[in-house]
Amino acid sequence: MAKHIAVAGKGGVGKTTFTALMLKHLIESKPGASFLAVDADPNANLNEALGLDVSITISDLLEETKDPKAIPAGMPKDVFVEYKLQQSLVESKQIDLLVMGGPQGAGCYCYPNDLLRKHLEHLSENYDYMVVDTEAGLEHISRRTIPRIDVMFVISDSSARGIRSAKRVNDLIQGIKTPVGAVYLVVTKTTEGSLEGLQEEIARTGLELIGDIPLDPQVASQDLQGKALFDLPDDSLAVQAVEKIIKKAKV
Ligand SMILES: Nc1ncnc2c1ncn2[C@@H]1O[C@H](COP(=O)(O)OP(=O)(O)OP(=O)(O)O)[C@@H](O)[C@H]1O
Ligand SMILES: [Mg+2]
Repeated sequence: MAKHIAVAGKGGVGKTTFTALMLKHLIESKPGASFLAVDADPNANLNEALGLDVSITISDLLEETKDPKAIPAGMPKDVFVEYKLQQSLVESKQIDLLVMGGPQGAGCYCYPNDLLRKHLEHLSENYDYMVVDTEAGLEHISRRTIPRIDVMFVISDSSARGIRSAKRVNDLIQGIKTPVGAVYLVVTKTTEGSLEGLQEEIARTGLELIGDIPLDPQVASQDLQGKALFDLPDDSLAVQAVEKIIKKAKV
């Protein structure tokens, strides 16, 4: 059974950076394992961090299937949707990627959402790891498109506001029906002394702080040049910090 790992937090805190570097570490440390990455953030950018091209998001293709004229004559709608979903998988040597896209327009999406749930359930069985980059609202998790999370990392930047937002994400996690295993807090973009200053706020979240990721000039310059984070050197501060966190979390 695939291990399901999710990464959540408010916008811009460093979720995608963490997700990409976690995948980098897992790929290097678990040779032969297979990985499915899911970008469930409407503001999708995981593909860039991983250096992969995306042609269509699931949201776009579900929109297309709403038009009855798009369905080939004689083909049942569920077969058509399933076929389209299969086409949306970006495959690469080390990692496959699904991009949810969004936000979805008005109208009831119950039907495609049900198909998407089943599709993801079957698809994830083919992998050793499913890693989901999600947003603070946990929409796909609360709607149960992603039915189970084994390890959840809640990301915050080094600000009191960020930590308070992480607490709200944790409150949300505690309130949803989806089974969630271990939940950890990761503080990113830290500088000397920033963790000490945030201690009280961190204690209030009720979350276990599993580690921090220092502000890393190599991450910033990689982003500035539009290069994949995947290609960061092993001696980068962020790469080393993520490795330590993943080992500690026993992912
Ligand atoms: N450890 C770090 N050191 C330096 N810069 C960082 C670090 N982590 C993230 N950043 C920078 O912070 C910005 C936001 O990071 P990232 O895209 O990973 O956040 P996100 O939470 O996925 O954002 P979004 O909500 O927009 O998807 C980027 O410009 C990234 O380069
Ligand atoms: Mg992101």
